[in-house]
This record gives sequence, structure tokens and C-alpha cells, in this order.
Amino acid sequence: MPPAVELRGVDKWFGDVHANRDVSLTIEGGTIHGLVGENGAGKSTLMGILSGYHQPDRGEVLVGGRPVTIRSAQEALALGIGMVHQHFMLVEPFTVLENVVLGAERGFRLDAGLKRARAELQRLARDYHLEVDPDARVESLGVGERQRVEILKALHRGADVLILDEPTAVLTPQEADHLFRILGSLRDEGKTVVLVTHKLREIAEATGTVTVMRQGHVVATLPTAETTAERLAELMVGRLVSLRVDKSPSRPGEPVLEVSALVVADALGVPRVNGVSFTVRRGEIVGVAGVAGNGQSELLEALSGIRPVTSGRVRWKGRELTGADRSPRALRRLGLAHVPEDRQRTGLIMPFAAQDSAILGYHAEPAYNGALRLRRGAVAASFRRQANEYDIRPRNGARRTSAFSGGNQQKIVLARELNRHPDLLLVGQPTRGVDIGAIELIHLRLVALRDAGKAILLVSVELDEILALSDRILVMHAGHIVGNVPREEATEHTIGRLMAGVLES
Ligand SMILES: Nc1ncnc2c1ncn2[C@@H]1O[C@H](COP(=O)(O)OP(=O)(O)OP(=O)(O)O)[C@@H](O)[C@H]1O
Ligand SMILES: [Mg+2]
Repeated sequence: MPPAVELRGVDKWFGDVHANRDVSLTIEGGTIHGLVGENGAGKSTLMGILSGYHQPDRGEVLVGGRPVTIRSAQEALALGIGMVHQHFMLVEPFTVLENVVLGAERGFRLDAGLKRARAELQRLARDYHLEVDPDARVESLGVGERQRVEILKALHRGADVLILDEPTAVLTPQEADHLFRILGSLRDEGKTVVLVTHKLREIAEATGTVTVMRQGHVVATLPTAETTAERLAELMVGRLVSLRVDKSPSRPGEPVLEVSALVVADALGVPRVNGVSFTVRRGEIVGVAGVAGNGQSELLEALSGIRPVTSGRVRWKGRELTGADRSPRALRRLGLAHVPEDRQRTGLIMPFAAQDSAILGYHAEPAYNGALRLRRGAVAASFRRQANEYDIRPRNGARRTSAFSGGNQQKIVLARELNRHPDLLLVGQPTRGVDIGAIELIHLRLVALRDAGKAILLVSVELDEILALSDRILVMHAGHIVGNVPREEATEHTIGRLMAGVLES
């Protein structure tokens, strides 16, 4: 049997960036093949070559032993290669069903196609427990649900080789376990899965073979059973990495944020946050745990001023905030910073130069403004400082934001918000899509901010991350806070039960 997919001596440049360097890689059919590497190592680029989004500048691609040229996603699909992207490629105003069918219409009559697709979607959703409402508009879905639509879309097209680029970045550990069972059964049916991930636990649990990339090169391909997380981390970054967070017990001071009976409704008037009350004090990290879609996102958006509050009170350092205080700009002036969950939609402006994205929301500050215009030199210098401090690659801030890899985009947002030493940091999914070296750095920064007496409200669907960082854990379920647990009393099991809506009596 020829390998399902093979790359031979592939090079890819983006301008002067050499994203893939002489890459040779063999992916055997009927396996789950892991792909790991630092942010910017070239993983997505390589997968983009296989799925028709990029053309290699040199080298060969073989599918089923046959040399091929893959010029588009359609051509990739015709060869049986389907990709679930790291950043969603859905049409927001369309429904789930329409998105699944889009580009895969068979026959002339759309309604007949839609009917077939609906039945197929229901079967896939049932078999794989990837439940989403086929008639829901994508724009109304949370990130977790959007991801499920992407997976359904690829499965619907009958991909034989399914490439998943960080598919679990937005899933809870339970949802991820579930996905891996699905991937396991796809493999057992003879399909091939390529899994790009930053989570080494997933590599250990799900893959048979793992390839490590570093700075465009493939540095190793190993049987998973013959390696360890520590060894992979070292191959990825070229140094030993600490996979644990060291921090002292918190010493909370006075309240910075007091929220009472907060209700936040969505565009349809459905309450997503339904009467929550809690306090965040100086010097503590309060974690908000929950399965994606239980109101955490809306809570964060409302507190940061980008989503209207329906009712309830919010006090800032003891003073009640009025409607006028709640604009994002007014809140920022008070000393609140926000790292949104979805960096591409609300954190950055993709066509802007990275150095301009790096001052979004702060562009009116005197440091960046001369008498008449933006001080370009100061903006560029500020980016260089942040890039050095947070190891943002490449260092060149004149490049477009969209040309930075996912993890590096995340670092741009984090550096921007953390560098203001805010009194309260609202932070959503701070390490989504970020490599382990950078996770270590981001966790250290958050703990340092706390130790400097600042307050942090952390929303994360990564239970590991909540447990590693939080001093106190709020658990959200169906818009309510169903648990407020001091860190020392929390275990994966107790928090997991609360997240699932199992209430302690
Ligand atoms: N469309 C593009 N235009 C210009 N440069 C790009 C483009 N896409 C990627 N690059 C650059 O190519 C390099 C590899 O990026 P790639 O997205 O493949 O990394 P990655 O390994 O997937 O990283 P991450 O883990 O952060 O997703 C990076 O330096 C990136 O900035
Ligand atoms: Mg990537």
C-alpha cells in the first residue's frame, strides 16, 4: 500500500519568510498522525499545501502514490483530502446546513441537495455526537459550536484524509476525549487523520506517529509510543520547558470588580448570563470554568463593554458604574484591559500592520500621537519592545497581522493588554493555539500581574489551565454560576461535575 500522502523536498516562501524548508513527510493510510511544533514552525502552511490553499515553491506532493498538483480546496477534496482550519472559514449569515452544503452541492437543485444534506448531517451529528442545530445561523453560534460545524463539513464531504488544525483548541477536555473516540473510529474504518495540536497529552492519547517541526524543518518523525511529552517539548523549542505553573498562595485585597444579579441577553433576547453575582479582588485570579457556550463568553463581553448589559449592577472599586462608564474606551481609562476569546474577530484587525494592531484601543495615547498624526516611529518601537518581550515572531511589525501565525497573533493581543498593567484584566482563552514555550511565558506573566496586586478574571475552557492558574473558581452552567470553589478545594472531578450541570445537593 502506498502512503496516503507523501511530501518530498517541499519548500514554501512567503516573501522573505521561508515557512517550509525541504520538508519530506510520509503519512501512512489508516493512521492518526500528529504534527507538533512552535508557533510559526510551518505546520498550518504545510497542511495548507496538502489542502490546496498554498502552492509549494519546490518539491513534490503524492497522494496514494501518485504525484499531484493541488490548486484549490476543491481539488484537494476530489483527491479525498479535507481540512478543518485553525481559523474558521464559515459564512456567518448562513445556517449550519447551508455552510455544510456550500461548495459541495451535488446536482442542480439546491433544495433537493439541502434535503439530502440535512439527513446526512443528522446522521453524522448522531453518530459522532457533534450536535448542532442545522438551522441555526453560524453568526449566532459560539466558537465551540462553530468548530463542530467545520468538522461536520469535512466529514460530510467524505474526506479520506482528514486534516484537523488544532481542533480541540476550543473544546473542553470531555469534548476533546469524545472527538478522539470519533477520530479513532474513523481510523478503524481505514481513514487517515492528521492532527495538528499544541497539546502533547493529545499526541500521547490519540496518535500512532508524531512529527515535530521547528522553524520550517521537520526535525523528527517518531512512533508516539517511543517518546514522551518532555522529549517532544524539547525537540520543538530546543530547550527544556516547564510544564507546571509555580505560584504562591494568593493574598486577596479589596474588591476591584463587584457584579450583582447581572443579566446579559443575546440579540434574540435570550438571557445567556442569567443573574450572576461575584467579586474579583486585588491580588487574585478568579477562574471561570464551564463547557463552551454556557454564558462565559457573554459575561466577558458584557464586562468589557462590547456587549450590552440587560440588567444588574457592576461596581468598580466600590463605585457603581453607569451606562456611560461602560463603553470599552471608558472602561479602559478606568484601568480595565480585555483579551478577547476570539482574537481574529474582536482582538485584531487582520489587514492592518501588526504594529498597528498592537496599539488598537490605545492609539489615542500621547506616546503614539504627535501634534497632528500618529508617531510611526514610536508605534514601530513599541512593537519591537513587545515582540522581544513576548517572543513574537517575526519581529517585523510592518507585516500584516494576518501574516502572523495563530499563536503569534495571540501574543500580540496579550502583550498589548498586559503591558498597560491594568487593575483588572479580563482574559478569555489566553493560551488558545499557543505553543508550550509561550504558554509557560503567558502563565508566568499572568501570575506576575496577580502578584503585583492586580485582579484577573480568567475564562478558559481548558480545565487544566483553570486549575493551574486560579485562586478561586467560578463554574458556569446554563448562564448561572453553579459553583464558587476555593482552589484548594477544587479537583478536576468536582469542577467537571459542576460544569456538566450535576449539582451537589
Ligand atoms: N499567508 C501568509 N503570508 C505571509 N506569511 C505567512 C502566511 N502564512 C504564514 N506565514 C508565515 O509563515 C510562517 C509559518 O506559519 P504557520 O502558520 O504555518 O505556522 P504554524 O506552525 O501553523 O504556527 P501556529 O502554531 O502559531 O499556528 C510564519 O512565520 C508565518 O508568519
Ligand atoms: Mg497554525
